Amino acid sequence: MDETRAIRLSPPVGRALLTWNGKQPPPPLAVPPAIEVERCGSGDQLLLHGENLAALAWLLANGYRQRINLIYIDPPFGSGIDRVRRVRLRGSGPARLVPVAEVEYCDTWNADAYLQFMYERLIALRDLLADDGCIYLHCDFRKAHHLRCLMDEVFGAERMLNEIIWFYPRGGDGERQFNRKHDTILLYARGDRWTFNYNEVLIPYTRRQLARFRQEDERGRYYWNVNPRGERVKTYLRKPGIGAYDVWTIPIEAALVRDLGYPTAKPLALLDRIIRASSRPGDLVLDCFAGSGTTAVAAQSLGRRWIACDVNTSAIQIASRRLRRAILECTSSSAGFSVWRIGDAAPAPRGDAHVRVTYHNDQITITVESYTNPLLADASQALPDWRCLVDEIVIDPRYDGAIFRPAIMDAPPRRSTLVRGAYTLALADVGPSLALKIVDAAGSEAFIVVPIR
Ligand SMILES: C[S@@+](CC[C@H](N)C(=O)[O-])C[C@H]1O[C@@H](n2cnc3c(N)ncnc32)[C@H](O)[C@@H]1O
Repeated sequence: MDETRAIRLSPPVGRALLTWNGKQPPPPLAVPPAIEVERCGSGDQLLLHGENLAALAWLLANGYRQRINLIYIDPPFGSGIDRVRRVRLRGSGPARLVPVAEVEYCDTWNADAYLQFMYERLIALRDLLADDGCIYLHCDFRKAHHLRCLMDEVFGAERMLNEIIWFYPRGGDGERQFNRKHDTILLYARGDRWTFNYNEVLIPYTRRQLARFRQEDERGRYYWNVNPRGERVKTYLRKPGIGAYDVWTIPIEAALVRDLGYPTAKPLALLDRIIRASSRPGDLVLDCFAGSGTTAVAAQSLGRRWIACDVNTSAIQIASRRLRRAILECTSSSAGFSVWRIGDAAPAPRGDAHVRVTYHNDQITITVESYTNPLLADASQALPDWRCLVDEIVIDPRYDGAIFRPAIMDAPPRRSTLVRGAYTLALADVGPSLALKIVDAAGSEAFIVVPIR
């Protein structure tokens, strides 16, 4: 991969409608170094750990200019909230939440800095989008009006296709104003052609609507008779549903958010609808504010290829866990992805583990005897079992010393269940070194390499 050039971006195509202190066109982007750290399966999909402007420059330098068919982004909303991570420990019994001394998600912005941040990324994203590609930008009432002006400037006001309202009727109460229960998703095309799979997102008729089409003509087509002006008019049932509206009611998946441990995770149904509507099987989908990886998971299950990026270590851990699970359960030999560390993305903080290795006949057993995380030292003291801290254990039985290729995954989806902690493998399946990664609920990791005798 070429890491020497600086990337020049195309100027916006629309008229500037919004200005702010310090507004300036993005300077040429330096291409950051990148290193592959993990590979799962054999596909060419990418999970990029790093700052997304650097990741976009890297993609532009490595053959992805105008190759992306669909972009969905769910950036920080400028909510003024800096979320301190609260770790939900595993195990049965009442949920135990432990605060970690680290801010997981910063969403307090100077208004000008926010606009410049988004402007630079939108310009780079436009250069990645294929001629007939589309971009969905997810936001809420705080920034929707500003972001729409930015999208008009970068993509052109005439390229706006929809302002989608995602309505999520659940929880919360607005006692001083109306309940704020919707987000806004702005949909723009890059050019004058775009994919819209009308039939894929039809709203199925209700039973009551279908019941009207009772009569059948001589060609076996169903219809109903309306009588608007005393005339009898046949209305045929031509398609399996009604064309989708731009107001979507999709509930927040509270159980998914809890089990993933990622508070801003969006429902799979939301991404499923977006990807079905605006891409075809085999198309390439990009999300550079990937969070828990919902876009990539939905793309994977719909047979699209994907690239996902996030700066946050926990997001990458959670997304790779979800994707690994989807891929290890999938029978297609072409499914897979690799994890790259882009630029100066920091590796996860270190946890400590003690592992025992025993051999019997032609088998080897790896037993994790203890795990500790200095960030959770207080909480750990009262724990009945070290496994309450651990979200997953993954094993590469033939570690080559460079890229971790997990083939065994122990990551119980429900938080009430603990990892097993002991793994027996046939010696024939193990190489000269085996590597084991333990990821805990606070995002720290222990990485242990076991030389095999
Ligand atoms: C609202 S969350 C996305 C949630 C995601 N849609 C999901 O379903 O889980 C926004 C994400 O953007 C990431 N982020 C914020 N600034 C970033 C940057 N400059 N580069 C990469 N990721 C960034 C945050 O770490 C966070 O995970």
